[in-house]
Amino acid sequence: MSLITVNPQIPQADLEALATERGVSKAELEAVSLALDGLSSKEISQKLGISAIAVRKRLGEVYQKFEISGSGPGKLAELRRILTSGYLTANSTIALPRRKDWGEAPDVSVFYGRTEELATLEQWLIKDKCRLVALLGMPGIGKTTLSVKLAKQVQDEFDHLIWRSLSNAPSLQDFLADLIQFLSNQQEATIPKDVNEVISQLVNYLREHRCLLILDDVEVILRDGDRFGRYQQGYEGYGLLLRRVGEAEHKSCLLLNSQEKLREITLLESPKQPIRALPLAGLKPEDARKILQEKGLTGERQWQDLIDYSQGNPLALK
Ligand SMILES: Nc1ncnc2c1ncn2[C@@H]1O[C@H](COP(=O)(O)OP(=O)(O)OP(=O)(O)O)[C@@H](O)[C@H]1O
Ligand SMILES: [Mg+2]
Repeated sequence: MSLITVNPQIPQADLEALATERGVSKAELEAVSLALDGLSSKEISQKLGISAIAVRKRLGEVYQKFEISGSGPGKLAELRRILTSGYLTANSTIALPRRKDWGEAPDVSVFYGRTEELATLEQWLIKDKCRLVALLGMPGIGKTTLSVKLAKQVQDEFDHLIWRSLSNAPSLQDFLADLIQFLSNQQEATIPKDVNEVISQLVNYLREHRCLLILDDVEVILRDGDRFGRYQQGYEGYGLLLRRVGEAEHKSCLLLNSQEKLREITLLESPKQPIRALPLAGLKPEDARKILQEKGLTGERQWQDLIDYSQGNPLALK
């Protein structure tokens, strides 16, 4: 299933530690260790003195605990890949090469204000280890700009970073394939067709490495003006992606920008949960003034009128 060629024998103690982290029982570990050694279900059943059905049941439990779905021999290969990667990460003395793909993220060298928002978001991403964060607000209010500024500030806290816009409305399958290829360093040979399976594959990467995924222009895949934040036809799978990324145990963060509310975020967000939403208001008057200053506009009176009129919306000020 994967192209990883390094396949060191994982010492039993490490295998045990990695399996226990996922809640694998002693009996299940016994069966899966033999399967990883290359024994068939029949051979395992003879060795352990249990029925072949019991062996398959134990292995099935292990796959479930590692969130490996699907059918066929691919599952054992995927398990081996996850374990090998976990073992190598835990035992590596060499720093992991960080990968960053900023896609078409805009330049944010000119940036004013938003100190409180940046502090809140940093707290959510770094201290609270939030898994799903949404920046919400009207067109031009500064979501894209703020998300890039934030990502630049926190990038060293993450192993990998990827910035993508949904402005071309990619299908979920294409979008996930792009993410997985990036996260696997182009090593993943097969991307499952089934949406649930491919999301599981993504979640496994989000668990192995601390990744920051930034998703811009998410309103493109939502129905126009739908107050329930429902998806355009054919894009409903994105809702499943958000739910799974928000609810599954992992150490990464999906940060998204949207003009419209998203139903999953509305349903799941809570100060006690690692799922949050930040509604963005206009810039403070003193920061809005700096934009006008930069534009070469003079006259305190006119400034105030413009700022009142635009309610601090940076795009309107420009
Ligand atoms: N804090 C800021 N400092 C300086 N300029 C800003 C700031 N925030 C936004 N801008 C400027 O305002 C314009 C609109 O901002 P941005 O594109 O981030 O808005 P947006 O909320 O992502 O809009 P949309 O919903 O249309 O994607 C950009 O030209 C950007 O450079
Ligand atoms: Mg934007």
